[in-house]
Amino acid sequence: MTIAYPSTPPVAAAPSGAPRPRLTFLGTGYLGATYAICFAELGYEVLGFDVDEAKIAKLAGGDVPIHEPGLDELLRKNLSAGRLRFTTSWEDVAEFGDVHFICVGTPQRPDGMAADLSHVESAVTNLAPLLKRKALIAGKSTVPVGTAEWIEQLVRRHTPAELGVEVAWSPEFLQEGVAVEDVLRPNRIIFGVKSEWATGMLYAAHKGVFDLALTEDREVPVVVTDFATAELVKVAANAFLATKISFINAMAEVCEAAGADVTQLARSIGYDARIGNKFLRAGVGFGGGCLPKDIRAFQARAQELGVGEALRFLHEVDLINQRRRQKIVQLSAELLGRGYGPAGPDLAGTRITVLGATFKPNSDDVRDSPALSVVRKLSRSGADVTVYDPEGMDNARNDVDEVTYAKTLTDAVAGADLVCVLTEWEEFRNADPNTLSDLVAGKRVIDGRNCLDQSVWVAAGWEYRGMGKPVVA
Ligand code: UDX
Repeated sequence: MTIAYPSTPPVAAAPSGAPRPRLTFLGTGYLGATYAICFAELGYEVLGFDVDEAKIAKLAGGDVPIHEPGLDELLRKNLSAGRLRFTTSWEDVAEFGDVHFICVGTPQRPDGMAADLSHVESAVTNLAPLLKRKALIAGKSTVPVGTAEWIEQLVRRHTPAELGVEVAWSPEFLQEGVAVEDVLRPNRIIFGVKSEWATGMLYAAHKGVFDLALTEDREVPVVVTDFATAELVKVAANAFLATKISFINAMAEVCEAAGADVTQLARSIGYDARIGNKFLRAGVGFGGGCLPKDIRAFQARAQELGVGEALRFLHEVDLINQRRRQKIVQLSAELLGRGYGPAGPDLAGTRITVLGATFKPNSDDVRDSPALSVVRKLSRSGADVTVYDPEGMDNARNDVDEVTYAKTLTDAVAGADLVCVLTEWEEFRNADPNTLSDLVAGKRVIDGRNCLDQSVWVAAGWEYRGMGKPVVA
């Protein structure tokens, strides 16, 4: 069933007796912290939980532990309004909440491609035995299809039947960098439910979103469906996005061989509304805490379900993506006049500056970042690598410690034989190649995100290489 709101949703009364359901968000990472803060902003009484005491202390003190535009201000505003609290106590969570949203991480397992569900399991088994009244446990984390059914069994095992605790699944689609907007003004909401009460409870828990839409004369489509479909919506969406990016990166490979320009190709096919021009930016590929691990977990789950063949193309999507990272190493060797043997190039004695460490701009997230992956490869090939990123330095340092981190863009490029731009931060896009010319040892640049103005850099005397673009002397 799909309904476009605002209209009059079937709102259920909160078991706590509060006028609006009280919401808890279990896990205060990129997802949970953003949701907790934004739902307080929408007027709900909210409790954020995490096992990480340092993170909770920071949030309770008005300090967002991640870089997400707009979030700091909303956190401080809602803390002082008294609508938002943070805790490390499961008892607190159980006592407070009507709807408990599971927002914990589901990273890739170290022993394979599947998702690690241990944090989800621990959230449910810690919370459920402490519940004293009816409540809804609603999953938001990205999980393999079948997880909600399993959680329902866990809840049955850990709560007395007479409480009637229920489970639902409502995946999230927030994009880091614009996450506040995505939560306050979602393009759709999915309810995976088994009962009318669960549907009514989720409506009540999202009424703030519908009310905001009403004041702005917008509609928010709501899809009410079963558990399995709700779980699959999320992974299918991410698989599609990853495929779109790898499609254009595959075209970039062909363009490189044929002397064509993938940026013009993307623009031209994007005018067809059936294709669309979004997510067609060729470059060093996709990274982050979602797309890479989600397409792997999806393949692993499909195999368990006996339909591995259906998702075999996602293996190809992954390989295309990995090849883009290696392409930067190849281009580096080429520009620096180094040979490329079976063990990769020997870049010993070269100084390479990498601009960008985060997986995309306007974030400090370096999880599976293409930029950092390239940094590691260049460093292993013997290059002396210096890295600069406007927001991701602390996280990058924790991940890769064998390279030099510079404090500013100009410090970073000083003395470089080659500059690689691997995250399209505005600071890099707007950098003046004439100013940088005086600082570097060699005017060579790889534009790993096709985000620089090629003609300006070439006019300033730089040897320029883009991704999937012809070489212009
Ligand atoms: C993604 C989904 O977009 C979001 O809906 C889901 O909830 C979580 O996963 P996010 O990980 O924040 O969000 O990043 P996204 O903006 O999707 O970018 C992912 C990666 O793809 C980045 O590394 C980005 O640089 C890259 N990308 C994106 C491209 O290489 N080309 C493009 O055209 C678009």
